[in-house]
Amino acid sequence: MLEALLLVAGLTLALLLIGFPASLGHARFITVDGRPMAVTPGTTLAQLAEARGIIPRDGALVDIAGDVLVPSGGGKGTLEVDGKPAGATTPLPDGSALVARRGRDVSEKLDRHLAPIPNGTKSAGRGPVLTLVRKGSPGTKETFVGTVSRRTAAVFVVRPPVDALLRRSSGLSAGQRAVALTFDDGPSAYTTSILAVLQAKRAPGTFFVIGRQAAGRPDLIARLRAAGQEVENHTWSHADLTKLDAQGVRSEITRAAQAIGGAKFLRPPYGAYNGSVAEEAGALGLRLVLWDVDTLDWKTRNAAKITAAVKAAVRPGAIILMHDGGGDRSQTAAALPGIIDWLLEQGYALTTVSTLVGP
Ligand code: NI
Repeated sequence: MLEALLLVAGLTLALLLIGFPASLGHARFITVDGRPMAVTPGTTLAQLAEARGIIPRDGALVDIAGDVLVPSGGGKGTLEVDGKPAGATTPLPDGSALVARRGRDVSEKLDRHLAPIPNGTKSAGRGPVLTLVRKGSPGTKETFVGTVSRRTAAVFVVRPPVDALLRRSSGLSAGQRAVALTFDDGPSAYTTSILAVLQAKRAPGTFFVIGRQAAGRPDLIARLRAAGQEVENHTWSHADLTKLDAQGVRSEITRAAQAIGGAKFLRPPYGAYNGSVAEEAGALGLRLVLWDVDTLDWKTRNAAKITAAVKAAVRPGAIILMHDGGGDRSQTAAALPGIIDWLLEQGYALTTVSTLVGP
């Protein structure tokens, strides 16, 4: 009895739902997305879908994080009857199940990019002389980026970077009570007076000359060498080598080398270097050399302060930085005789950079 009542109630509901008159005796009973429905025999799928608003949703175009980019940009939604794709004229037999299936979400396409990973520079040891032990090499990373969202999907390190390795050494470790006086940024109008002091004191020094200045004074470079002074490379134009690419670094070194003749050491302007600078210098047969004692003569321009700076910081094996160019160096020239006398009194021998730090 109860079953009969439920059946009547169900059929009445179905009749109300379908919205147009149909003889119950001829109605077809189907399910739409699991809900029961009665349809007039001969009703096509297209008619039913339109009458009941049965519209399968299209899938979305989604980005690599799954966020929707275009709501209906994915796969087409489909209607299925009894698990099979259905078209507009697919019959709806009694007891069939109609399902509106949402289309698949589709992921955006990915672009693949290869990019370098810059390598760093490591140094081992202590001291102002830098020798390249191992060349560095940049690594490579592979990045996948969504073509629509521009979001980065994944980054893979294809090849890790290898840091350049420099060995730092020093004349200090040799245990010899010797120092090297060095003069940067010449030749200039002050170079001859500084040379005169060194010659008078029979003291060798090392001149880190700027190539383009040396190019105009080949006579002076020859005089320095003839007087037992060492002439080394301070680049062509006093450029900050860390701001140049490898080609630029090579050019700065080789143009200066052509102007001054053979050299064993490069003093990078501003003491600025990195693995690439050391690598290019090393490939051209030069070691980098900085200093142990900075007299700041270019800054103080005061003979007493220049002398005091040497006395305060000198140690056996020290490389002492002064300047014979780049500005008014009269106070450097004035301080030099007293500095040499004091060093000799302290038992220091004066020598060149290459003698101090060895081959
Ligand atoms: Ni300089």
